[in-house]
Amino acid sequence: MTYENLLLSEENLILIVTFNREKALNALNRQTMLELRHLFGEDIPKRGHLKGIILTGAGEKAFVAGADIKEFLDLGGEKGREMAQFGQETFFLIERCKFPVIAAVNGFALGGGCELAMACHMRIAAENAKFGQPEVNLGIIPGYGGTQRLTQLVGKAKSIELSLTGDLIDAQEAHRLGLANHVVPVGEALNAAIAMIEKIAAKAPIAVSKVIEAVNAYFEDGFDGYEAELNAFGVCSNTADFKEGASAFIEKRKAEFKGE
Ligand code: COA
Repeated sequence: MTYENLLLSEENLILIVTFNREKALNALNRQTMLELRHLFGEDIPKRGHLKGIILTGAGEKAFVAGADIKEFLDLGGEKGREMAQFGQETFFLIERCKFPVIAAVNGFALGGGCELAMACHMRIAAENAKFGQPEVNLGIIPGYGGTQRLTQLVGKAKSIELSLTGDLIDAQEAHRLGLANHVVPVGEALNAAIAMIEKIAAKAPIAVSKVIEAVNAYFEDGFDGYEAELNAFGVCSNTADFKEGASAFIEKRKAEFKGE
């Protein structure tokens, strides 16, 4: 697939994905969603090992300002449900990615943009970031998992308040609520996300992917998270990296993990 709205750059095994529709504040139109689906469903699984993936927005104003409202007018009949289903499935691919995915939130993260950031494993917000679920202003509700993930991250009371009022919150408030992992100066979100991925890259890759899998299991219907943790622990304890990690500790040296 040729990517028109996503800019991809891979350096030092870190894939940076930039939503590149600056004039529309990087709103998620159909084409962008198709590209995102292809990226996480087909492309990334074939890329071999990555240290991690960063999602960010082009320009200084927006991460992603939501689904593209200009495409909403032809959403009749079953189309709305189908659009939401496609979005939910796509965002599950992000959440279930075995590599760490970090949102570098460099401005507005509204509606589908906030949902996109929440599907990532962490959010690093620049001080000018604004988060919100303003769909109620348009007569709809969050449809890409926002009612669920916002509740998971900030609790029921604040989740309902934000989605009923459509109020936007700034980076500090998002941090206070547990929506943003860190707040950094304007212009620093991408660097901070790279630093976070480099920190994680020093750990054992299988353990990293198993942490993601086991934590996700807490929120998955029909999954016993404790059972998922046991299975993940069992897999990790059979890896060469586990032997290396334990030996390195005892020998007082830095572990050299190979992802095996
Ligand atoms: N879908 C489509 N276009 C969007 C958009 C969206 N979600 N958000 C912004 N844009 C477009 C605007 O229409 C405008 O395009 P134009 O110049 O062709 O008119 C351009 O991006 C710049 O936006 P503008 O509204 O002029 O910037 P602003 O600084 O005055 O306001 C926002 C910024 C984010 C507060 C405002 O754009 C907004 O409320 N956007 C919609 C957010 C939303 O409801 N998202 C959830 C959708 S489900």
